[in-house]
Amino acid sequence: MATAKVELILATFLFCAASVAAGRASSYSRRSSAAVDGICKSLVVTQGYACQEHTVTTKDGYILGLQRIPASRSGRLAYKPPVLLQHGLMMDAVTWLMNLPDESLAFILADAGYDVWLSNSRGTQSSLQHTSLSPSDPAYWEWSWDELVTYDMPAILQHVRSITGQNMHYVGHSLGTLIALAAFSHKELVNKLRSAVLLSPIAYLNQMPSPLARAAAQIFLAEDIYWLGLHQFIPKGDAVNKLINDICNITGNDCSNLMSGFTGQNCCLNSSRSDIFLNHEPQSTATKNMIHLAQMIRTGTIAMFDYGNEDNNMNHYGQPTPPVYNMTKIPNDLPLYLSYGGKDLLADPNDVKVLLGCLKDHDGDKVVIQYREDYAHADFVFGVNANQIIYEPVMAFFHLH
Ligand SMILES: *[C@@H]1O[C@H](CO)[C@@H](O)[C@H](O)[C@H]1NC(C)=O
Ligand SMILES: *[C@@H]1O[C@H](CO)[C@@H](O)[C@H](O)[C@H]1NC(C)=O
Ligand SMILES: *[C@@H]1O[C@H](CO)[C@@H](O)[C@H](O)[C@H]1NC(C)=O
Repeated sequence: MATAKVELILATFLFCAASVAAGRASSYSRRSSAAVDGICKSLVVTQGYACQEHTVTTKDGYILGLQRIPASRSGRLAYKPPVLLQHGLMMDAVTWLMNLPDESLAFILADAGYDVWLSNSRGTQSSLQHTSLSPSDPAYWEWSWDELVTYDMPAILQHVRSITGQNMHYVGHSLGTLIALAAFSHKELVNKLRSAVLLSPIAYLNQMPSPLARAAAQIFLAEDIYWLGLHQFIPKGDAVNKLINDICNITGNDCSNLMSGFTGQNCCLNSSRSDIFLNHEPQSTATKNMIHLAQMIRTGTIAMFDYGNEDNNMNHYGQPTPPVYNMTKIPNDLPLYLSYGGKDLLADPNDVKVLLGCLKDHDGDKVVIQYREDYAHADFVFGVNANQIIYEPVMAFFHLH
């Protein structure tokens, strides 16, 4: 029962599902302490670590919250380079803090001497401010992951670089890998990095076997006008409830196991942590972002948002089709660590292999590829054994670069 609950809950954020889980989970109505106090105060200081809240303003006016853990639990100041952790879709920095300290990557890195920085994408609880817009304005939600690449990523990297005076290691999970791959096809950003670690890498999406995610993509694309009218994609809202019902109807799925339907069967989650999870997640995103991802599932390309016809694309891009992010432009000497799982239905092994094909000219001594047969999408960040399986080899990789 507890496992089924956690699975339903996790389904709400990892790709596209929702209120079926949240609505049924009684604890959801509790207001997150992170919403009131900030992530530092509610989740980091409580574990005995120092923590700083930072903000950075993007060129398009979004004020993003960042948390920094500058020392180990014993109080020893970081003596290793900065590491920036970037969460995935419908999540925030809580991703890296949710398990026990010796199982959660942010704390593990701090205890190992790294200067740990946690980013929060626009639209999440720590990053709801804007210089002129409010989240209740539709215009606030006029973005997809293109803007996370074009605005959020450069602002965040620049901030960490300017405060620490150092280049950093990057760790992304899920959507945090897609925006990295797209961003790193631009040289200016790569110049601020030491290395990039991509956990459960999302890039090419059209072989995705997840029947529920495919159905969701189909519904988004068929009714994009309806969805665009909603602007803010609230995982626990009524519209998303309708989406879930439609998905279940289309696939003939009884939706009793949404999590596996979307993401694959995670091997190693701790079901006793579900209350902590529900207290903080899932987070809203822009509906336009969901439609953009749905376009990728259909087309199999990594391109900018498609405005639907040649005229509209011409207006936005000066060309009839959306510009493509060219994966082969990622510099061949950027140290890369990619880790993917055999049970992952979102970062499907066949899609990951297409990405690996784009990286075939990468310098051989700069790439580590890890395949973990029993891991699905959430295990990479929430697995109780991810410390030994993923994080230890990742830190050994950092040590080399
Ligand atoms: C599924 O869709 C059909 C046709 O629109 C409808 O009659 C049926 O009630 C729906 N089933 C559920 C479970 O929503
Ligand atoms: C799972 O979470 C519970 C509740 O926080 C904790 O007591 C337990 O030690 C955790 N188990 C593992 C294996 O991490
Ligand atoms: C991607 O970049 C490579 C190397 O710069 C180039 O050869 C290739 O034509 C580009 N592909 C596209 C689709 O622009």
